[in-house]
Amino acid sequence: MCGIVGYVGERNSLDVLMGGLRRLEYRGYDSAGVAVVDDEGDLEFAKRAGKLQVLADELGRHPIHRGGTGIGHTRWATHGGPTDRNAHPHLADDDKLALIHNGIIENFSELKEELLADGAEFLSETDTEVAAVLLGREYRATGDLREAFRRTVRRLEGAFTLLAVHKDEPGVVVGARRNSPLVIGLGDGENFLGSDVAAFVEFTKRAVAIGQDQIVAITAGEVTVTDFDGNAVEVEPFDVAWDASAAEKGGWSSFMAKEVAEQPDAVANTIRGRIVDGVVSIPELDQLGDDALRSIRRITVVACGTAAYAGMVSKYAIEQWARIPVEVELSHEFRYREPVIDDGTLVVSISQSGETMDTLMAVKYAREQGAKAISVCNTQGATIPRESDAAVYTHAGPEVAVASTKAFVAQITALYLFGLHLARVRGTLSEEELAAQVAELQAIPEKITTVLEQGERVGELAHWMSDTRSVLFLGRHVGYPIALEGALKLKELAYIHAEGFAAGELKHGPIALIEPGQPVFVVVPSPRGSATLHPKVVSNIQEIRARGARVIAIAEAGDAAVLPFADEVIRIPLAGPLFEPLLAVVPLQIFAMELSQAKGLDVDQPRNLAKSVTVE
Ligand code: F6R
Repeated sequence: MCGIVGYVGERNSLDVLMGGLRRLEYRGYDSAGVAVVDDEGDLEFAKRAGKLQVLADELGRHPIHRGGTGIGHTRWATHGGPTDRNAHPHLADDDKLALIHNGIIENFSELKEELLADGAEFLSETDTEVAAVLLGREYRATGDLREAFRRTVRRLEGAFTLLAVHKDEPGVVVGARRNSPLVIGLGDGENFLGSDVAAFVEFTKRAVAIGQDQIVAITAGEVTVTDFDGNAVEVEPFDVAWDASAAEKGGWSSFMAKEVAEQPDAVANTIRGRIVDGVVSIPELDQLGDDALRSIRRITVVACGTAAYAGMVSKYAIEQWARIPVEVELSHEFRYREPVIDDGTLVVSISQSGETMDTLMAVKYAREQGAKAISVCNTQGATIPRESDAAVYTHAGPEVAVASTKAFVAQITALYLFGLHLARVRGTLSEEELAAQVAELQAIPEKITTVLEQGERVGELAHWMSDTRSVLFLGRHVGYPIALEGALKLKELAYIHAEGFAAGELKHGPIALIEPGQPVFVVVPSPRGSATLHPKVVSNIQEIRARGARVIAIAEAGDAAVLPFADEVIRIPLAGPLFEPLLAVVPLQIFAMELSQAKGLDVDQPRNLAKSVTVE
């Protein structure tokens, strides 16, 4: 949510900013703007509601000058609607300074009253303009951008990444962060700032993640990081593993089509280096120590949306393998009650972006209560892994489409590796049992490839069903979170009413929804792996079929029991029962994506959604 780019160097900063903002488009936004300072100290800006192309068209009609210092922003509206006026940058100090912001300034009304009493005028309805006006006032008082910026951020409460430029100090961009992301890109004779590395990875792969409550000032030749009081802070540069082309569509019709196809690699890359001679070992957990892993009494998973469904899948596996109770909680529910947490609790957060505000706050809260926290995350240098005791990165590569696909399978993979690691350390599975599960996991990438081969058929099904108004999804055991995920994908991508249910719950209410023609996807457990559950789910299929439902079964190859009752059967290869989710989710993703395309919708950037939810 909100993309931020800053640049100082020899290039035309406008090109760098627009390119960076394009790469950050996936975060979701509804307006965009840029401000550029040239060497003579002229500051010019442009901002427009709508997609980046609207801003690009505006810049075509009314060009601004080409300077080497600039800031750019994509805004996802929170305070004040998505209008030209509310778009960033916001100007102050007689239009001599420009400021952009990601996050929410919680004490903005109080500050605004103070500034109004001081004679300030406001042009927008945003909380951001308050920070701009405050910075202007501090600049007039100090004549020093860095000092004025420090004074300003110390007055702000809430979550913010701020960047600012001032025409009287050309060649400098200042930035600050609290609870929102900001990363520095270290160049040669040029430096960059971005909400994440995608903003500048085209130019440099050397990066520094700015810590909580820190300020950065970049010039072409220098980067200084301090705390809010101006004390110098040591930084640790890292090398970005993604290259720019990894964030491009590479010939696919959409980022989502590309990312769905990349799932075998997402799983294989997440496994890579973590299974050595058939034994799972996650080196990132070494810093916690095996004794700490042995003494865990309870695991609490915190996550939102698709990531929470990955957590629900992992609960079945971790409990079965490591014999530790696992509860899965939506981060926003967790943090506003008084959860029971102690030093025997391990909190595992799951987040593709590593920036989801509610998940970040849940992790912070849990650590304050004495729990250890592990982050399962896909984005290097993101805030949540940095705020955790250890990070187990998924290696899905950049996920650009707003709705999550490959990150989901990579999250389950990482969590399964974690479960097997725990089982080994705690001695809850024999060597043979561990080896059997490891072999199942290693076989998954090839099996996903087999499922992807049926994409065309699933696509045809979606096209036939393009005028469907409601779809239900049923699953049981690990198939239940997959039913929830199938429904979520369809809601997000095709704007169709969809509900996922635990199949056992059917007769407790949802069966009333079944009427002739109602499409129902059923994730059928393996008849070999789940001998008790399989007949129960087949009975559920008969029950809904008898009431006229149109049944689309996702069933293991060779499962003949579903044939007489299903209208369509999508086959998945044989896999251990706990591994079926990694296969069964794929046709559901393709179905939602194809239905979205059949309806002519924007599959990569569905309406109202943001890739990274950095506000509550
Ligand atoms: C759904 C989706 C969201 C995210 C959720 C958490 O397709 O993408 O439900 O899973 O917003 O995001 P992260 O994983 O970045 O914390």
